[in-house]
Amino acid sequence: AVLAVAGAGCTGTTQAGGDELKDSYIVGIDGSYAPFSYVDKDGNAQGFDVDSMRWIAEKKGINVTFKAIDWDAIIPSLQAGKIDMVYAGMTITPERLEAVNFSNPYWTVNQDVAVREDSNVTLDDVLAGKAVLGAQRGCTAATWIEKNLIETGKMPAANLKLYVDTPAAVSDLEIGRIDAVMYDDLSLGSYIEGKPLKIIGSVETKEQFGVAIRKEDTALLEFMNEALAELQADPYWEELKEKYNLN
Ligand code: ARG
Repeated sequence: AVLAVAGAGCTGTTQAGGDELKDSYIVGIDGSYAPFSYVDKDGNAQGFDVDSMRWIAEKKGINVTFKAIDWDAIIPSLQAGKIDMVYAGMTITPERLEAVNFSNPYWTVNQDVAVREDSNVTLDDVLAGKAVLGAQRGCTAATWIEKNLIETGKMPAANLKLYVDTPAAVSDLEIGRIDAVMYDDLSLGSYIEGKPLKIIGSVETKEQFGVAIRKEDTALLEFMNEALAELQADPYWEELKEKYNLN
């Protein structure tokens, strides 16, 4: 008789040149990155990426738990083995690729800029380095500002204020401590909703999101690439986009 080989979700499946898959994984998320990943008021992980991972876990027969970690500490936590992957709207960047691997891309964003509704700060002012800008520490918005505005001498370094998360930057914007906030488009849109703030424009960075995985976990990388392809081919992918208003 031919022995059926169990799917990739099975413990003990070893792939050539790879490591072994496990039954359970700890998925690192950011607790304040709606609509992709966030922790709701009851302490439950939610969002597009979280639901995607739950679908994958169910489909593939693995267990997952979600762990919220400060964004600027999330790659070190992955490297230290506190989590097994980062699935939280993480942009694939050359710098991060030196430290970890990424799955195939599953989403693309640009950087939006928000100001107070009554403000006359324009995108040109921001790009000329004339506004005091807030960004989440360790995120691609902060890196973009450093590379394109500070290192080019357009903006004094003191004009960049870094925050542990974007809601903190948005509150400082509301009370007038800073002039503008830069962040991934969909998330910034969700954080300014219902507040006296507006989006004044966008920098087309065309960043791609991927799931970050330790370099040595090649079996997990292969597993996630396969699972993402299955998810994107399933009707649930469209349902999820609708649920979280991603277009
Ligand atoms: N995409 C940006 C980055 O990779 C911001 C991501 C923020 N994600 C989050 N979960 N806070 O840096």
